[in-house]
Amino acid sequence: MRKNYRSAFFSQEPFVQEIRAWNESYEKETGRKRRFFCFTMGCQMNAHDSEKIVGMLTEMGYEPTTSEEEADFVIYNTCCIRENAEQKVYGKLGWLSHLKRRNPYLIIALCGCMVQQDSVLEKLKKSYAYVDLVFGTHNLYRLPALLETYLNTGEPVWDIWQESKEIVEDMPSTRGRAFQASVNIMYGCNNFCTYCIVPYVRGRERSRSMADILEEVRRLAEDGVKEILFLGQNVNSYGKTLTPPVPFATLLREAAKIDGIERIRFMTSHPKDLSDELIAAMAETKKVCHYLHLPIQSGSSRILKAMNRRYTKQQYLDLVDRLRAAIPDIFLSTDIIVGFPGETEEDFEETLDVVRRVGYATAFTFLYSKRTGTPAAVMENQVDEETAHQRFDRLLAELNPRIHDLHESLVGQVLDVLVEEESRQGQGMVSGRTEQNTLVHFAAGPESIGQIVPVRLTQNKTFYFIGERI
Ligand code: 5AD
Ligand code: SF4
Repeated sequence: MRKNYRSAFFSQEPFVQEIRAWNESYEKETGRKRRFFCFTMGCQMNAHDSEKIVGMLTEMGYEPTTSEEEADFVIYNTCCIRENAEQKVYGKLGWLSHLKRRNPYLIIALCGCMVQQDSVLEKLKKSYAYVDLVFGTHNLYRLPALLETYLNTGEPVWDIWQESKEIVEDMPSTRGRAFQASVNIMYGCNNFCTYCIVPYVRGRERSRSMADILEEVRRLAEDGVKEILFLGQNVNSYGKTLTPPVPFATLLREAAKIDGIERIRFMTSHPKDLSDELIAAMAETKKVCHYLHLPIQSGSSRILKAMNRRYTKQQYLDLVDRLRAAIPDIFLSTDIIVGFPGETEEDFEETLDVVRRVGYATAFTFLYSKRTGTPAAVMENQVDEETAHQRFDRLLAELNPRIHDLHESLVGQVLDVLVEEESRQGQGMVSGRTEQNTLVHFAAGPESIGQIVPVRLTQNKTFYFIGERI
C-alpha cells in the first residue's frame, strides 16, 4: 500500500497493524485465517466502496469466503434507493441472528447508505441490537479504528457522520478484475431530485483533484488495468467546486493520455449538465467509449418539473440529437421511473414517446418507491400499485423490441471485445463487452480474459449477442 501523509487513511495504520497481528496469531494457533463475507447492494459507487472494504479487511489479515456460515466477520454494504433494498437487509439480519447465537464470536457489521437515515438507526437499535459495527458513507475509511474499538471493548460501535470532513486518498482497494477498475472522481449529489434519497445519505458534491485522479489512473495502468470507469452521482458537474474549476471534459482528455488505458467509461451523467464541450471530448478522444448512460426518469415535462430534474422532454431529445450528430455510433442507456406521484396516463404516454424516439440500447426501469424524507413522499396523488405495475409492463413491452431492433444494426459487424470472464452460456465460451457496452458471448479459452479481441457479432439475442472470434 502506498502511504501518503496527506491521507486520512494514514491514521488507520496502527489499527490495521494491531488487528493484523491479532489475526496472524489466530492463524498460527488454528492453521486457518479468519474469514470475512462482504455482501454489496446497490449502485457502482457502493460496489466500489466494497472494494475498499475488502482492501482494508485484506490488509488486516482476513481472507474472503463466499458464505456467511463460514465467516468470522460479516459485512453488509447497504443501499436505500428503493424500499425493497432495505427490506432485504432486515431479512438477512434476522437470519444472521441465528448464526450469531451459534457463534457468539461472529462480528456483524452494517454500512452504506441505509444507515445514514435516522429512522433506520432507530429501528436497528430497537430490533437488531446485536449488530456490532455500524458506520455510514462518510467514515468508511475508519473501519480499522472502529473494529479495533469493538475488539477491545466488546461493546457495539455505531459511528455515523452527517457529512464528510475530507476526501480520503490512498485507501487500500481490491479489484474484482485485474484489467478493469472503477475510480471515484466525485462524491455526493447537489441535485435533490424530489424522489431521491441519495443527496441525504451521500452528502453534498465534492470533487477529487484532477492530479489525485490521474495519479490513481496511472498506477492502475501500471498494474495492468485497461478499462476505467469514472464514478460519480453526477459526473458532468465534476470539478465545479475545485479551485480553479476543472471541466469533466478536461479530465477525460487528460486520462486518455495515460499509456496502457485503452477504454474510459463514466457514469452517471445528468442531462442538465451535459455540455457541448463534453460531447466534443467524447467524439475526439478515441479511448472514451461511445456509450452513455443518460437517465431520463420521465418523458413528461410536467413530471420532470415535479421531479426537479431541470430539463424538459424537448431539451432531452435535443441533447440526444446533438450526441448522435457528433457521435453517430453512440449507444445510450437510461433510467426510467414509473408511477411518480401525479403521473397520469398522458404523462406516461410521453415516456413511451421518448422510448420510441430515442432507441435505447439498455434501460433500467423502476417502480417509484416512496422514500421518507424526500419531497415526493408527501406529494398528493400517489399512483396506485396496480396502475404503476401495468405501466411498468407496458414500458417493457415498448422497450424490448426496440432494443432488439437497435442491435440488429450490429449483426455481421466485427467489433473489439474486452473479454471479461468465462461465459455461463457453456463450456469453452467467454463473454465480454464492446465499446458500446454490448455483451457478447463467443468461443474462446480463458487465456483470452483481459484481452481486447475482434469478434464478429452473429446472433442478436436482444440483450446480448453470440459472436465468433476473428
Ligand atoms: N423510486 C424509484 N426509483 C428511484 N431511483 C432513485 N430514487 C428512486 C425512487 N425513490 C432510480 C432513478 C435513478 C436510479 C439510480 O434509481 O432512476 O436514476
Ligand atoms: Fe438522485 Fe437526482 Fe442526485 Fe441522481 S442526480 S443521485 S437521481 S438526486
